[in-house]
Amino acid sequence: MSGNDFLGFPDPATVIVTGAASGIGQAAAELLTTLGLTVLALDIDKDGLEKLPKHAALHTFPCDTSDRAQVESLLPELAKQFGDIAFLINNAGPPSSMNFTIEEGLAKTAGAMQFFTAAWLKTNPPAGASVVSVASVAGVASGGPPPALISGRGGAAENGWYPIGKAAITGMTRWFAVSSAGRIRANAVAPGITVTPRLQDITKGAYGKSIIERVPLGRLATPDEIARVIVFLLSPAASYINAQVIVVDGGGTQVF
Ligand SMILES: NC(=O)c1ccc[n+]([C@@H]2O[C@H](COP(=O)([O-])OP(=O)(O)OC[C@H]3O[C@@H](n4cnc5c(N)ncnc54)[C@H](O)[C@@H]3O)[C@@H](O)[C@H]2O)c1
Repeated sequence: MSGNDFLGFPDPATVIVTGAASGIGQAAAELLTTLGLTVLALDIDKDGLEKLPKHAALHTFPCDTSDRAQVESLLPELAKQFGDIAFLINNAGPPSSMNFTIEEGLAKTAGAMQFFTAAWLKTNPPAGASVVSVASVAGVASGGPPPALISGRGGAAENGWYPIGKAAITGMTRWFAVSSAGRIRANAVAPGITVTPRLQDITKGAYGKSIIERVPLGRLATPDEIARVIVFLLSPAASYINAQVIVVDGGGTQVF
């Protein structure tokens, strides 16, 4: 039995992955191409998209997913070019180290995912459609990194935009599941700390080491470990999972 025999994605099927040029999004995009889906990889980082390993089923599109005008013009174009887009992974999001105001932070996390999902719904996804959005344990099960441990970085520690924005993604997920009942399933994944390019050096510092000591599995996540959960939730194999937030953190947030 192949991986897709188990997951049950239709053939053909098309998926949009945002933030696909790096980390978790890249891992999800690559897994989905190996499963036979047509992958529309979107990212603000044009160079990063160009460096992705080439695959006949991977199509790249530069897009700032927090720019409503760009999103609302690109989505109908993609639907015209590729037909039904049954699947969406809302993964793009800024690092917690950004020094945003609370308004900017909310706009670039839950705000952007909300209008992206709404624009996708306007393309009339076919029966069996589903969306998975990437939240974080910060905002679901923890309050984000303690300010003392990341002092000097500014960003989320200053006003909480990161945990607040990530928590809002879980509310958005439940709202889409209910407001678009019968049209889509909507779920979210809340990763614990995952070693992606933005956190490449985290294991060298005191904060990273303190997390590893706490996580019952004794290590941080890899991008593939998060991508596999996203892909499962997205797939028809998860056909009765709806409006849920799945924490993928090695048990780290269970220990205090
Ligand atoms: N790495 C972690 O520890 C961790 C933990 C919890 C949640 N997350 C979430 O996972 C998601 C992916 O993060 P990652 O760790 O893979 O990071 P990453 O930096 O490796 O990849 C993120 C990608 O998103 C793109 N991006 C950012 N803003 C964008 C925008 N406005 N429009 C289009 N593309 C944009 C970036 O260019 C980058 O290619 C994010 O939403 C992040 O908040 C990450």
